[in-house]
Amino acid sequence: TWTMQSYVDQAVTQIREQVGKDRVICALSGGVDSSVAAALTHRAIGDQLTCIFVDNGVLRAGEREQVKKTLASQMHLNLRVLDRTTQFLDGLKGVTDPERKRKIIGRLFIQNFDVESKKLKSVKYLVQGTLYPDVIESVSFKGPSATIKTHHNVGGLPARMKLKLIEPLRELFKDEVRVLGTELGLPDEIVWRQPFPGPGLAIRVLGSVTKERLAILRGAETIVDQEIRGAGLYREIWQFFAVLLPIRTVGVMGDQRTYDNVIAIRAVTSVDGMTADWARIPNDVLARMSSRIINEVKGVNRVVYDISSKPPSTIEWE
Ligand code: XMP
Repeated sequence: TWTMQSYVDQAVTQIREQVGKDRVICALSGGVDSSVAAALTHRAIGDQLTCIFVDNGVLRAGEREQVKKTLASQMHLNLRVLDRTTQFLDGLKGVTDPERKRKIIGRLFIQNFDVESKKLKSVKYLVQGTLYPDVIESVSFKGPSATIKTHHNVGGLPARMKLKLIEPLRELFKDEVRVLGTELGLPDEIVWRQPFPGPGLAIRVLGSVTKERLAILRGAETIVDQEIRGAGLYREIWQFFAVLLPIRTVGVMGDQRTYDNVIAIRAVTSVDGMTADWARIPNDVLARMSSRIINEVKGVNRVVYDISSKPPSTIEWE
């Protein structure tokens, strides 16, 4: 009978045979797939694997620290964390077009990964967290959002860098990957993490991306996260997040007129991200999010809830 333990044993043997004494690299995003693929490869070849994590300046609050804590300190992966906040934010300066944001972030990511991997000697392999549905999708058809928004992944990397691929999850579905992650000792925060787009908060700060606007968004997002978890809704909702709109609206605080930012809350249910329905979050949870964001996040005087489904809307606003 098929068990996750025997899958691990088999994959470990296979990776060891394939790799021999060569070195392997991995672009870690902190998401479920890349983390599980890295943990499994690490189980097989230990420090022959080097993982690279790029802080692109548009990560969520606490994300870099969490990745370091779990994957380096707890799981003992050989992890290189590159802080490229300034470089990415400089590159994004004044850019408002969503597709240009994606291209800039994708290009800078590849550039950094390229430079870093060249510092390592005799790297022959790249680990990727490709799942079975990704394999099917790439041979049969591309989902609508793939053509509407250029979802950059590390897809362009292996060919450019002449690396051979290791894809230890290519026979698995998402739910199996989560079981595998738990089996490998990854914590729930990673195993049950929601999908997060490569371009990160750059496509959730609508319009131009600045440090100040990112700080407002992170403040709001932290509250949304706390309230959703507090209400026990985390696993029911496919994705939830805050979006900072590029407009200001009038409000009143005490007897003073305010003219400040608007936060939109987006939360959807979905099975695969291809279609989605807006989540029916209980009103009292919405009410708490709204009053907390307006009271606790400086510069915000209005909160709206997005009640559109995909299609015709998309999950992200950009
Ligand atoms: P949309 O907004 O197209 O999103 O309905 C569908 C899913 O894809 C994620 N998404 C991205 N992921 N790079 C990514 O890696 C991207 O540029 C990107 N844009 C959207 C989105 O968060 C949702 O899970």
